[in-house]
Amino acid sequence: MTHHPDLAAPFTLGGLTLRNRLVATAHAMAAVADGAPTESDAAYWHRLARGGAAMVITGGTAVAPESTLPQRYLTEAWRPEIEDAVRRRAEAITEGGAVAIAQLVHLGRETLGAGTYYAPVSAAAVRSPREATAPHPLSAEDVRGVVDAFRISAANSVQAGFHGVELHAGHGYLLAQFLSRVNNTRDDEYGDRIALLSQVIDAIRTEIGELPIGVRVSVEPDVGGVDSGLGLDDLVELLPRLYDVSPFTYANVTAGVRNTYVPSMATTRPPLLASVARLRAAVDVPLLISQGFRSAADIGQALESGADLVGMARPFIADPDVARKIVAGQERAIRPCTGCNEGCRTFEPTGSCSVNPELGPPGAAARPAVPLLLTRPGSRTGPVAVLGAGPAGMECAMELARTGAEVTVFDTAPRVGGQAHLAALAPHRSGWQKLVDFQRDQLADLGVRVQLGTAATPAELAQYSEIVLATGAEEEVVPVPGELPTVTSTDFLHRYADVVPAASRVAVLDDGFGWWQGISAVESALAAGAREVTVITPGTDFATGLSPENRTQLMNRLTGAPLRIVPMTTVTATTAGELRLRNVLDGRETSLAADLLVTVGERRSRRPDHAPADGQTVRAVGDCVVPRRIAHAVAEGRAAAEAVAARPL
Ligand SMILES: Cc1cc2nc3c(=O)[nH]c(=O)nc-3n(C[C@H](O)[C@H](O)[C@H](O)COP(=O)(O)O)c2cc1C
Ligand code: SF4
Repeated sequence: MTHHPDLAAPFTLGGLTLRNRLVATAHAMAAVADGAPTESDAAYWHRLARGGAAMVITGGTAVAPESTLPQRYLTEAWRPEIEDAVRRRAEAITEGGAVAIAQLVHLGRETLGAGTYYAPVSAAAVRSPREATAPHPLSAEDVRGVVDAFRISAANSVQAGFHGVELHAGHGYLLAQFLSRVNNTRDDEYGDRIALLSQVIDAIRTEIGELPIGVRVSVEPDVGGVDSGLGLDDLVELLPRLYDVSPFTYANVTAGVRNTYVPSMATTRPPLLASVARLRAAVDVPLLISQGFRSAADIGQALESGADLVGMARPFIADPDVARKIVAGQERAIRPCTGCNEGCRTFEPTGSCSVNPELGPPGAAARPAVPLLLTRPGSRTGPVAVLGAGPAGMECAMELARTGAEVTVFDTAPRVGGQAHLAALAPHRSGWQKLVDFQRDQLADLGVRVQLGTAATPAELAQYSEIVLATGAEEEVVPVPGELPTVTSTDFLHRYADVVPAASRVAVLDDGFGWWQGISAVESALAAGAREVTVITPGTDFATGLSPENRTQLMNRLTGAPLRIVPMTTVTATTAGELRLRNVLDGRETSLAADLLVTVGERRSRRPDHAPADGQTVRAVGDCVVPRRIAHAVAEGRAAAEAVAARPL
């Protein structure tokens, strides 16, 4: 597909030339120790910049101690002594051919849920909906201290080699707290909502002259009818007013606040696409629009509507070459971000990615993964059979084919995708299908033979010198005695559209781990029109396995749904229209009317008993070793291919 003519065209920003219109918006991978970027951090940014982004904005850069976390994985931009480490980061980006911008942030009242050392501060003592207590309001003198903190941090960043800075006035952080009608209730000079931001821009100008100063703002959505105080109307009023008094170099507009600004896979199109034209008309500065952009078509539409630049963050984490591939019209070759927000948003201990096995923790060249060797390495070399066309098997076959191996994939299922395809059957989970489609297309492009719908016979398998088992897992049936129709969550995902209309009171017996099997059963039942959905869990709550971010977005989707949670409870038996429940703490028995019970059972490895032929090597990867996340499957599939390829074929 041809892309918008401007997409690959250079753009001049604050006297700098951007090689195209694609920007890596601020993110941080937490490869920072004691507040200073590490060598791994530089390697990450270098790889990203080499992939074709025109401008790279580094995130997680704090301007003052009270805006840091005890783990100290935010870069401490106010400290001149970390200049060398910051310089490594800036050089990594510039050597990769991109313009390097350091984003500067003061978190204000948002503690990110961390037990911070300092009292949270803000424009006023207005409590964040995400915090249990109201912040301490800054005095006018304190605010001037904040201005200075931004000035010093900007000067340090430019001194260390950054081409410019971006002020984080979005996502509900301190500068946004001052911009908000609801949060800024001051009656001093800073009661003018743009006053702080304006003073920050002016102060930074005295340090860095005409180098770029970007301003990132976000449209904060009203939730549950509660006025956010900083919606699109506010931004359309504030941005031009700010530009008039304190000209800045570009506006970067995104959406959301903490827990919603990185949307889950339920968001399938860029939320701000329809607002670009209005923003364009309002602000006469270069406009960078971001969030949820994935396709050349959506990027083209944003450019057509008046954006100058389009930003993405997670697509660069999933595939650092995404910009180059979009510009080259090679969208099919992009390893897609699924929107799972698992690896990149949990920082355990640094950012990783479910679909990108090349992203490893500090000091590792890739995500650590060890395929299970089920035989001694055999003597034979030659063709490879991969049993299982799920994420692990397909990843393995792709990599093997790239190394020139002759590889065949077998799966007894009629289609590829395994557990990823299953997960994607649920509403709001289609992101996983993107990975399946990508791997399927790669196999096709690489000419890999894929045999579906039948099992490979022992005689067939004997011809292969290497066997990789990637046969996945299956859900156990939870034994619940009684007459009520009862299905596993796996069966339910295949059939919910058919069964729910005839069984509109759906009960879901979760396993207590609060992960997607139970959640998807709930969302599927609701999507199919269930009148009443009840989650029964032996755990303390529903969806406890999700990160606060994914859970918040889930709960926003479920607001107003006919959903009840019965915690600390299990199901002992059923009758025709009823469940017998028992509280796991006090043993009290109750009953619940229901038409259908969906059970969430343990996922058990499914590994065929394969008797290896003479000299054959057999390995196992992914869920058929131990059922875990798709990240494990992809990384082990890749690692198995590398292990096979390390032997002469
Ligand atoms: C790991 C990670 C860290 C992020 N850190 C920041 C940050 O420090 N500052 C910021 O403005 N946005 C941050 N973001 C938000 C992204 O810039 C972007 O707006 C968001 O991910 C939505 O865009 P996308 O759909 O292209 O990923 C972060 C996103 C991710 C995934
Ligand atoms: S972990 Fe998930 S959301 Fe994050 S970049 Fe990777 S695929 Fe995208």
